[in-house]
Amino acid sequence: MSRKALITGITGQDGSYLSEFLLDKGYEVHGLVRRTSALNRQRIDHLFNLEEYHDGKNLEVKLHYGDLTDSSSLIKVIEKVQPDEIYNLAAQSHVKISFEIPVYTSEVTGIGVLRLLEALRKIDNKSVKFYQAGSSEVFGLNPSSPQNELTSFRPRSPYGASKAFAHNITVNYREAYKLFLCNGILFNHESPRRSENFVTRKITLGAVAIKLGLQHSLALGNLEARRDWGYAKDYVEAMWLMLQQDQPDDYVIATGESHTVRDFCEKAFSFLNLDYEKYIKIDPKYFRPTEVDNLVGDASKAKKILGWKNKTSFDELIKIMVEADYEYLEKQMKQK
Ligand code: NAP
Ligand code: GDD
Repeated sequence: MSRKALITGITGQDGSYLSEFLLDKGYEVHGLVRRTSALNRQRIDHLFNLEEYHDGKNLEVKLHYGDLTDSSSLIKVIEKVQPDEIYNLAAQSHVKISFEIPVYTSEVTGIGVLRLLEALRKIDNKSVKFYQAGSSEVFGLNPSSPQNELTSFRPRSPYGASKAFAHNITVNYREAYKLFLCNGILFNHESPRRSENFVTRKITLGAVAIKLGLQHSLALGNLEARRDWGYAKDYVEAMWLMLQQDQPDDYVIATGESHTVRDFCEKAFSFLNLDYEKYIKIDPKYFRPTEVDNLVGDASKAKKILGWKNKTSFDELIKIMVEADYEYLEKQMKQK
């Protein structure tokens, strides 16, 4: 019989790649989706045409309505699906926006995790394995470098503080109730499926739009922040690997390299033979009240125990994103 996975946040960037990864492994995949006035399932639509996607193999994706702010929905879905593995990827995941909606962000990204853990406790099945999508944003202000599982947390946003709570409560429930709960502390990971208001996708889409004559400039905020950027498709494998171990634990997942936002711009524009300095405009509205200046992760524990290592270089990632956005915008132009 197929193993069953329940993914919260299945409509997001990581949810879509994780679904593909688990279907390839023969899982029955269930996803929690929110009610929205217009359907927002572009990233997973292709998974429902399973004949085409999986060569006629008998694989399933099933969606269930629910929300991390609604405990009753979480209990109901877990009881109904009886998953072997739960991947909690749902979150209000935008750092800058978390300053505009701090209470909501804490409700979903922080307390939402506790609601799920309580739902797990209630069904009282100790064999369920749980993955919590933790973030390098927890390291925040002037962390020692590179950051690993022992680096202390000093979050710099309502989002980071919510993820720190989520991490700590997951560790506490693991110790207190002997549940199989893991935190992945993932550094930034990107792809052509990244939402357009995160900086990498904003840059690749903007650069291609400039190349195609659709816009003349691109407004950004802080170009000096450093991030450790990997490819989302590589990172979902690490989530799965954590749940295949004998013991639950926490792992940093990162490339080990950091680059500035400026470096990212320079590379993305240069793939299109453009000089970024001619097109980037600085707009103070994209600056954050408090910034995380420098993130770079040390994933040696994941390498040693999970056998995971980064596969896609910084340049390859940018190339994948620029090429995908070129194809996307060209298609849009032809349809007009
Ligand atoms: P994303 O694209 O923003 O996806 C977030 C998902 O959460 C979407 O499916 C969204 O549904 C869902 N969601 C939001 N609020 C919800 C709620 N109240 N109840 C149920 N579902 C809700 O994020 P991502 O980049 O895939 O990241 C996945 C997870 O990893 C997030 O928890 C994020 O914070 C964390 N993370 C991401 C990175 C990264 O670099 N990508 C790094 C570290 C950690 P809708 O489609 O309906 O909005
Ligand atoms: N979004 C955005 N838009 N960021 C900009 C812009 C802009 O116009 N201009 C400069 N930046 C800078 C931000 O100030 C930040 O330093 C950096 O670009 C990256 O911003 P984001 O792409 O929004 O990502 P993030 O690092 O804040 O958060 C992402 O990574 C976290 C892991 O460290 C998100 O995916 C989080 O959910 C994730 O936890």
